Amino acid sequence: MATLQNGIKHLPGYLDRVAQEHLVEVIRQIVAEAPLYVPVMPGTGKPMSVRMTNCGSLGWVTDKAQGYRYQPIHPVTEKPWPAMPTELLELWKKLAGYPKPPEACLVNFYADDAKMGLHQDKDENAFEAPVLSISLGNTCLFRVGGLDRKTPTGSFRLSSGDIVLLGGEGRLAFHGVDRIYAGTSTLLKNGGRINLTLRRVNP
Ligand code: SIN
Ligand code: FE2
Repeated sequence: MATLQNGIKHLPGYLDRVAQEHLVEVIRQIVAEAPLYVPVMPGTGKPMSVRMTNCGSLGWVTDKAQGYRYQPIHPVTEKPWPAMPTELLELWKKLAGYPKPPEACLVNFYADDAKMGLHQDKDENAFEAPVLSISLGNTCLFRVGGLDRKTPTGSFRLSSGDIVLLGGEGRLAFHGVDRIYAGTSTLLKNGGRINLTLRRVNP
């Protein structure tokens, strides 16, 4: 386990292949119930390249008019998000060091040409809880900075099965995904990358 700047933790290869395949199956069932949708930036309405859905009692969403927020229903189907699977609750229990369970799991799907700009995860009210991030599928180049945009950033690769914890001082570190490396994993039949982030929203 590597401890990076600001106490961000990277656990390479934490999930073995069998566990990764199982999680992909679990995510497929979630997506069947709560389809991936195209999130857009607040204000500009510019579509993001990542497709999103959620599971848990709350989900992170964004749209042109109301911006970034958590809500209990899918923005397109208007149905409650699917329940948080036990596999994810167990991972949180083992790794998060926070007494309450996560309320939201944001499911990000990156096609091989998708990316995510540098941002902070700050729409939660519980910064004492870490954000627990799981990578599945193709490798990405993950960028991490400090607590403001001026702090120099560094980057490293996240491979399928890796876990990252944004906790402690690093909870509010700027981070983003510069690029996906096509053909680096056989986990997802059609390529791309799935990222799951478990979040505690209310203290
Ligand atoms: C995110 O910050 O929501 C996604 C991070 C990642 O895809 O690894
Ligand atoms: Fe994030």
